[in-house]
Amino acid sequence: MTDTEIQRLIQGETARQHDGLELIPSENYVSDDVLAALGSVFTNKYSEGYPGRRYYGGQEFTDQVETLAIERAKQLFGADHANVQPHSGAQANEAVYYAWCQPGDTILAMDLGHGGHLTHGAPVTRSAREYNFVRYKMKDIATGEIDYDELRHLALEHKPKIILAGFSAYPRELDYGAFAAIGREVGALLMADVAHIAGLIAGGAARNPFDDGFHVLTTTTHKTLRGPRGGLILSRGTVSNPLKAPEKTLENIPTLIDRAVFPGTQGGPHMHTIAAKAVAFGEALQPEFRDYAHQIVANAARLATELQQRGFILVAGGTSNHLILANVHQSFGIDGKTAERAIDAIGLTLNANAVPDDPLPPFRPSGIRLGTPAMTTRGLREDDMPRIASWIRAAIDARDDPDHLATLRAEVRDFCRALPR
Ligand SMILES: Cc1ncc(COP(=O)(O)O)c(C=O)c1O
Repeated sequence: MTDTEIQRLIQGETARQHDGLELIPSENYVSDDVLAALGSVFTNKYSEGYPGRRYYGGQEFTDQVETLAIERAKQLFGADHANVQPHSGAQANEAVYYAWCQPGDTILAMDLGHGGHLTHGAPVTRSAREYNFVRYKMKDIATGEIDYDELRHLALEHKPKIILAGFSAYPRELDYGAFAAIGREVGALLMADVAHIAGLIAGGAARNPFDDGFHVLTTTTHKTLRGPRGGLILSRGTVSNPLKAPEKTLENIPTLIDRAVFPGTQGGPHMHTIAAKAVAFGEALQPEFRDYAHQIVANAARLATELQQRGFILVAGGTSNHLILANVHQSFGIDGKTAERAIDAIGLTLNANAVPDDPLPPFRPSGIRLGTPAMTTRGLREDDMPRIASWIRAAIDARDDPDHLATLRAEVRDFCRALPR
């Protein structure tokens, strides 16, 4: 690379990722093949439209790349249709809302403070201005159980067009069957945003909402799925020509979604990213990926137990997936930002996060959120978790002692440099 300024920054980030441990549950390390596809000449190409139906010439190879990505994604999730063009998770969600709802329609989604995501209708978003979001919550924060009675009550009262199951800070498995029964009762589209757990579903370590009758799955491709930054929409139904507007029926969902992505909400697809998605989906179809997905969950379960033994109070009492939400305010009388900074100082990266019904403000919340997908990619197993939990607790205890933090940083660096990547 001739741009030495950017080269220096890439080298710095490479060293940062290598010399520390990534505990942010939405991050991962992609393979060299995924990186190679991302850095390929497909970035030069405009391909508005879909395979076989493009608005520009020269699509001999792009059509094959996108078709491969689509077929692999369908196989991975048992879907009738895959749209691989959403630039990211936010765009995937927006496209589904746009495909199925009119302005003013109601969407029933998980409360943001109880684990839902910003794109599920946070007041600051464009979709919150366009649609009417109603929220369900957990019944019991100590176990994480969703209040399905309240969910049903809200669904009967508000007649939502979409019932949205999905989260970015919820450590338990959802009962998709319960969602589906309520959705059928009120005639809502059943949408699961599996951005966080897509890799677990693909690897058989979490339940696939399609198995309980969901119509649409949205996801990011860069979290547990270990692909490039991007979005993906999977659906059940009949696929037809996206150039013709179909009737708004559940059967036509695939075509409605295609039209909502392009030209509804996006322009030209990022074909280099789609090539990288195809590579990642191919990797996720390999038997080793199943081991990886199960190891993520096993590591998270052990890490949760080890943290509890060191005084951490966990939201939902533990975890059934890849992520852990610890209430450090309740545990140690400090806020999440203070904990995040101390833990970051020793080379473990995680994020401060609100806990349900958090008494502290969003920029200094009560919790920290951490997870095991990235560290599992680096080869860590259950036996490594006591050490990680001890470092996290030690960093919190040493938060006002720079010398001790520096000693811990050196320990973490030595440990990480011995890991494969
Ligand atoms: C559940 C969920 N949906 C959507 C998104 C948005 O994805 P992106 O950041 O790629 O737009 C995220 C990202 O954190 C997420 O956790």
